[in-house]
Amino acid sequence: TRPYVLKKTVVMVGMMGAGKTAVGRTLAQLLNVSFLDSDLEIEAAANMSVPEIFARDGEAFFRARETEVIHRLLQDRKCVLSTGGGAFLSPENRANISHSGVAVWLDAELELLWSRVRHRDTRPLLQTADPKATLAELYAKRVPEYAKADLRVSCAPPVSLENMAKRVASVL
Ligand code: S3P
Repeated sequence: TRPYVLKKTVVMVGMMGAGKTAVGRTLAQLLNVSFLDSDLEIEAAANMSVPEIFARDGEAFFRARETEVIHRLLQDRKCVLSTGGGAFLSPENRANISHSGVAVWLDAELELLWSRVRHRDTRPLLQTADPKATLAELYAKRVPEYAKADLRVSCAPPVSLENMAKRVASVL
């Protein structure tokens, strides 16, 4: 197989539970490039989990770190970069991403997203009285922003991670 040279960093965007991290990691292996994840970078730098950062310092603080981290990671060697679900809503982040990357929206239906996030308590934005309704509201509000991505790949099971990654690679 010919070596695949990325001209731009592939930036995975989309809702929590869409599989940005899992598909991104598999895609990076497929393309033989490194994989980075903005949430993991923020957590490592802060030595705290995302929920801990939200609880201690608030969402605005998290968003500021997210913008810095994404900007910095986009300067590195071309790679696959997964972002948190809120990252692509910021015009500043979108501008930085479009400057050095290609944004791929991993689109998944609300029911699939809910089935994946409902048993996890790692999403501070879903710590509400009715997390399913909150997820639905976020989804409705965010879809028009995600639609600004360069590419959209829809994911509906039963597609394996490998096939999802191939699907993304095929449209790059
Ligand atoms: C968020 C999604 C999370 C994380 C934070 C905020 C969001 O990332 O960045 O909890 O605003 O949707 P994932 O999309 O990886 O869950």
